[in-house]
Amino acid sequence: MIAVILAGGSGTRLWPMSREAFPKQFLPLTSGQSLLEETVARSQRLDPKPSVLAVTSEAHRFLVAEHLNQQMPTTSWSVLLEPESRNTAPAVALAALDASARSPSELLLVLPSDHAMSDSQAFLKAVGEGDELARAGKMVTFGVTPRSAETGYGYIRVGVQEGAGARVDAFVEKPDAETAARYRDSGEYYWNSGMFLFRADRYLEELGKWRPDILAACRQAWEARSADLDFIRVEHQAFDTCPADSIDYAIMEHTGEAVVVPLDAGWSDVGSWEALWDLQEKDANGNVCRGDVITESVTGSYIHSDGRLVAALGVEDHVIVETDDVVLVADRARVQSIKGLVARLRADG
Ligand code: GDD
Ligand code: MG
Repeated sequence: MIAVILAGGSGTRLWPMSREAFPKQFLPLTSGQSLLEETVARSQRLDPKPSVLAVTSEAHRFLVAEHLNQQMPTTSWSVLLEPESRNTAPAVALAALDASARSPSELLLVLPSDHAMSDSQAFLKAVGEGDELARAGKMVTFGVTPRSAETGYGYIRVGVQEGAGARVDAFVEKPDAETAARYRDSGEYYWNSGMFLFRADRYLEELGKWRPDILAACRQAWEARSADLDFIRVEHQAFDTCPADSIDYAIMEHTGEAVVVPLDAGWSDVGSWEALWDLQEKDANGNVCRGDVITESVTGSYIHSDGRLVAALGVEDHVIVETDDVVLVADRARVQSIKGLVARLRADG
């Protein structure tokens, strides 16, 4: 099995800590380790000598290499570099082409690099349950019982039992708020965790069936690749022509071969300051305070200081994040809108 670690995202909703040059997967958000290091550590629990293939952008290659080196010897990982981001369907295609050149039916465990899980044992159990299904050619997803009507996730409707999992009756990526609420209330849906398990050759078959244009561009870019040290660079011009799409829209919404294995591992995609607050242990007033922070009559807040003392008085449900060049003060319930603020900053230069 190869752990394919997707590390090319930018995580703007955790601005100002997560930046384009230093996205959230490189931050130690929930422990002393970065989310990427935690992801590698989890795959090491599956297999003491895991084979890791990270896929990332040219810009983040040294950060990825540094974080992988922290966790494991250089001999057990390599990094595939994308000249431009084209979302996850092409990123996984490159990994599948690389793996299948050596062993076509190799199992790929696709892991986003920016998720947190409090119960690694439950994660190992779910992967173990998916193993046989994936070997038989199924596209295995890992389903989390919805805790809210989150619109940033994929929703999986559970069908009849199949092996240790269940057939996926429908896969709906990022539904609108009303639909998400209906799905959550019905009790018939899981959230898609964004992790997948399948054979490399099966991924390439499915991609060829649903998005032959993406497969063709990736194949061309991969065949003309160059390698130096631990980095594999796909060919720029061919990859430039590749359409951008996520694995969820490109394949999972269409395939009839998907199964879902339940995952109850305290999973979170650490998608916002609210999610980070939710994940972490709080003081008696429901606050999470990191760094040099002093509070009085403050409740339900996430307060982080990178350096300067942050003193807060009489506020509730706030997010306050102090960094070298930015101080963010936000209503905890509205932090999903940070994306818009960041876009405005970019537009204003
Ligand atoms: N190499 C590479 N290249 N990695 C990428 C790229 C890319 O172009 N784009 C995104 N990634 C990485 C991100 O860093 C992240 O680790 C992972 O791929 C998933 O991408 P996101 O952009 O975070 O996806 P999402 O959160 O909107 O949606 C996915 O995850 C949800 C759960 O968190 C989907 O799979 C949803 O269905 C799912 O519910
Ligand atoms: Mg995500």
